[in-house]
Amino acid sequence: MGNTEVNLKASSASKLAVDFRRDHKQILSQIISSYDSVIIRGYCRVRFTIININILHILALCLHGERRILDLWCGCCLFGLYFSMLHPDIAYCGHDMDSKRISMATYSAMCLGVHNTIFRCQDVRDLILNENFDAVMVINLMHHLDDNSKNSLLATCARHLASNGKLIIKDVTTHPFHKLVFT
Ligand SMILES: C[S@@+](CC[C@H](N)C(=O)[O-])C[C@H]1O[C@@H](n2cnc3c(N)ncnc32)[C@H](O)[C@@H]1O
Repeated sequence: MGNTEVNLKASSASKLAVDFRRDHKQILSQIISSYDSVIIRGYCRVRFTIININILHILALCLHGERRILDLWCGCCLFGLYFSMLHPDIAYCGHDMDSKRISMATYSAMCLGVHNTIFRCQDVRDLILNENFDAVMVINLMHHLDDNSKNSLLATCARHLASNGKLIIKDVTTHPFHKLVFT
């Protein structure tokens, strides 16, 4: 391989990285602006700022190639909307027990023109699923549940994961404290 070809490959790789950073920032700001409430927009800005951005990228990579995604306890769905916009071919299903947050997520998805999402209002401690998923995400949830609820949740997820399906669990540490407060 000649030097010119190597240089061309390096410059197109760095262009791809720049395009990705630009797309990624644009998606995050579109999601933030789609929320109706000024408080939620402020909250999202803080969440997207304090989350280690590499974690968002790692989660997105974990979902790569998976189609039916279940997100347990999605809140107002800022991360779910990000994954759904990044991978328009996924079918994303977000659960939360707070009907206001589910309405907010539904409204934002509608404003963003994101059609690959559905939302359900359900307590994860009484989780009933009627279908299987290729990936189940449990983000910042486990530390809120007692051991019995954790066991029963994991058993339900295992029953509803497709063969070779992925269970993706991310949780928080107790420090720094300001990050814990904002999850
Ligand atoms: C901080 S948000 C986390 C959302 C999202 N996973 C994230 O990390 O941004 C916490 C959400 O958990 C929901 N929640 C709390 N207990 C729950 C339960 N037992 N079942 C379902 N959702 C629950 C709350 O309604 C709230 O929307």
